[in-house]
Amino acid sequence: VYPAIAVIVTAVCGAIWITLATRNAVDLANTHLHEVLAALQRTQGLLADAESGQRGFILTRRPAFLDPYDAAMAHLPAALDTLAALTKQEPEQARRLEHLRRLAAQHTAFLATAINDELAGRHAKALAATSSRQAERGMAAIRAQVASMLQGQERHLRVTVAAEARTLRAALMVAGAVTVLAIGLLVLLRRNVRSDLEAIRQRDSALHQREQELVAVNASLEQRVEQRTRELQEANAELERFAYAVAHDLRAPLRNVQGLAEAMAEDCAAQLDALGADYLQRIARTAQRMDILIRDLLAYAQLAREAMPLRDVDLGTALRAALEALETDIQGRRALVEVDGSLPRVRAHSTLLVQAFMNLLANAVKFVEPGVRPAVRISAHEQRDRVRVSVSDNGIGIDRHQTERLFRVFGRLHGQDSYPGTGLGLAMVKKAIERMGGRVGFESDRGHGSTFWLELPAGA
Ligand SMILES: Nc1ncnc2c1ncn2[C@@H]1O[C@H](COP(=O)(O)OP(=O)(O)OP(=O)(O)O)[C@@H](O)[C@H]1O
Ligand SMILES: [Mg+2]
Repeated sequence: VYPAIAVIVTAVCGAIWITLATRNAVDLANTHLHEVLAALQRTQGLLADAESGQRGFILTRRPAFLDPYDAAMAHLPAALDTLAALTKQEPEQARRLEHLRRLAAQHTAFLATAINDELAGRHAKALAATSSRQAERGMAAIRAQVASMLQGQERHLRVTVAAEARTLRAALMVAGAVTVLAIGLLVLLRRNVRSDLEAIRQRDSALHQREQELVAVNASLEQRVEQRTRELQEANAELERFAYAVAHDLRAPLRNVQGLAEAMAEDCAAQLDALGADYLQRIARTAQRMDILIRDLLAYAQLAREAMPLRDVDLGTALRAALEALETDIQGRRALVEVDGSLPRVRAHSTLLVQAFMNLLANAVKFVEPGVRPAVRISAHEQRDRVRVSVSDNGIGIDRHQTERLFRVFGRLHGQDSYPGTGLGLAMVKKAIERMGGRVGFESDRGHGSTFWLELPAGA
């Protein structure tokens, strides 16, 4: 748009400039014509003055008539020079002026001869000269030459004006054409801009529509995810209810087996030989192990069912309670337990937090190479509104690939013979901590000990 406007402005300015220049040129030519006209009139007038002075002198014989003659003759060369200066640019006029000069010279010479005759007393001859054909023809030729010069000058002016007019017309046409072109360009540009705008608007609305579609898809996706989550939660709860019911119902027959085994050991001891007694003992041990398993399972399922009110709990207090509960175990293994620095408060369910600590500490002192004295280190640090508690040991460590299994129910990595246990401890820790709004994890290298950590919201 801007270049087109610049072109129009330039064209208009150019046209104005050329018009002014043309007018100037025409004005100059006009002025020149008037100057030449004035100079011609003056020359002709001087010659006429000279002639009438001469004639007056000869007719009246009064010398006073010689004054205008003398004055005219004195001024004539200057007048002719002015004409020469004015016409020197135009060769034809210059030629005509030369002719006028000759005519003027001839005529003034003729006038002078007659005056000289009069002064010398030849009055009749002088008088005859004034009314002679030569006197008449001389002045007529001069007038004719002046007229021809005037015509030439007018022709010159006409030619100049015509040329200027042609130039002006051409210039105006060019400027007009340029302006029309520029305006055409502007119109085209505007149409282009308009169509571009239209395209952008259309693209915009298409985008908007796409965006709305996306929003709708997103919303339906979110809905589906929510529904799926709800379904999963229900299925999970159903499963947990089922596990709880099964475990609960299993306990009665198991008690029965235990009771019967006990009764048999008491009442039929005499009838049993050594092999029978050994079998009976194994039955009792297995039943007891199964009882523990079921109890733990029930406790785990209970975690999901129970409401979990959270309170500010002092980590130090919870840790001391866990250590007290494990005292026999820790002392039996001559384990070293150290706490690094002070322990802050957290938002938690205190009983479950104590149980989680018990599980982690029990593992830490249990999973060591035979003959190694367990050494456990506990530390805590706050990160913004969270507290991370770490329990590090000098035990056998854990393979990185086993991460997945570790926190699952019955996710044991070791045989019952090397390290006894039901494989529910870590599953319970995870479940309990997550229900408190926290996270659990571990870092370990096989053979270099492990660090289990749990993260909970910081207390007030
Ligand atoms: N500190 C540890 N060092 C090495 N391995 C560990 C450690 N803690 C847990 N594990 C591994 O993770 C498995 C799962 O631990 P978890 O506490 O759930 O079960 P468990 O100790 O065997 O049985 P439970 O705790 O129910 O008596 C363990 O069997 C063990 O293989
Ligand atoms: Mg354990």
